[in-house]
Amino acid sequence: MDNKIRKIGVFTSGGDAPGMNAAIRAVVRACTYYKIEAFGIMRGYEGMIEGDFVKLGARSVGNIIQRGGTILKSARSKEFRTPEGRKKAYENIKEESIDALVAIGGDGTFTGLNKFFQEYKVPSICIPGTIDNDLPGTDYTIGYDTATNTAVEAIDRIRDTAMSHNRLFFVEVMGRNSGYIAINSGIAGGATGIIIPEEEMSFDTLYNLLGEGKETSKKSNLIVVAEGSKIGDATTLAKKVAERSSYFDIKVTVLGHLQRGGTPTYFDRVLASRMGIAAVEGLLKGERDVMVGILNNKVVYNDFTTIMTNKHEIDSESLRIAKILSI
Ligand code: F6P
Repeated sequence: MDNKIRKIGVFTSGGDAPGMNAAIRAVVRACTYYKIEAFGIMRGYEGMIEGDFVKLGARSVGNIIQRGGTILKSARSKEFRTPEGRKKAYENIKEESIDALVAIGGDGTFTGLNKFFQEYKVPSICIPGTIDNDLPGTDYTIGYDTATNTAVEAIDRIRDTAMSHNRLFFVEVMGRNSGYIAINSGIAGGATGIIIPEEEMSFDTLYNLLGEGKETSKKSNLIVVAEGSKIGDATTLAKKVAERSSYFDIKVTVLGHLQRGGTPTYFDRVLASRMGIAAVEGLLKGERDVMVGILNNKVVYNDFTTIMTNKHEIDSESLRIAKILSI
């Protein structure tokens, strides 16, 4: 048996992200270009365990580049975390003669694939697809730009009503343990305060930002809170402010899953297209157990262990400008 790759299985796993379809399309079309068969694996690792595969070709991925969600569907598989689950998955892909895998997802997806690679040595490559932008080795993950734009649009709308009623709004954005969506939607949305997990901020500091009774006091304020905030979520913080003072008329909006859907921005579509092609080309060049990334506008292949043991830090410049602007 030679090492030539003839059939690639592509799947999406974990939380969906806008731009995943553009990545699937790029993987499939790159396969067609390089004369490799492409198979879609439905619902991530669940479909691998159940043998739910679908043959894909250049035409079957037409008219999806602009669509949010993922045509291959997604899941967070518990069974794949067990050796028995992974064995079933291996038997199915072997039976289908799939000899390489491209996973589009976040850190949970990658951890599973890394384990699978160590056990079964199926050539594998990951594409970072998550709105959280929490993976090192790439400046951006697929879906982050769209989700942040969605959050900014929502913040703009909330600001209109906040201003009209002189209200203080706490707006909670997604990101799991990462403050990327919060910091940049907060800066772009002109927030008074931005609470992110990466930065220590006491409740008193937050309260002082609101400026009650000071010359700079604004009755209408908007605080963006990352869901991973270490000093409490938006609802908790709103309650604490209300307990301390009746000066503010306070409301809370949790943006939630609306940040996950919708048409991907041009940026996410291009990013996904570049990464999809880079994944297939990487496999053909012999890259294994790595994550595709784009750093400083160049395609890179990151060793998987490095990815899992590092964090995608928020740059200090973003933190600095957020502070200056919140005066
Ligand atoms: O990882 C993407 C993400 O949307 C996070 O920002 C959020 O914490 C989580 O997924 C929500 O997961 P679920 O869709 O399973 O509720």
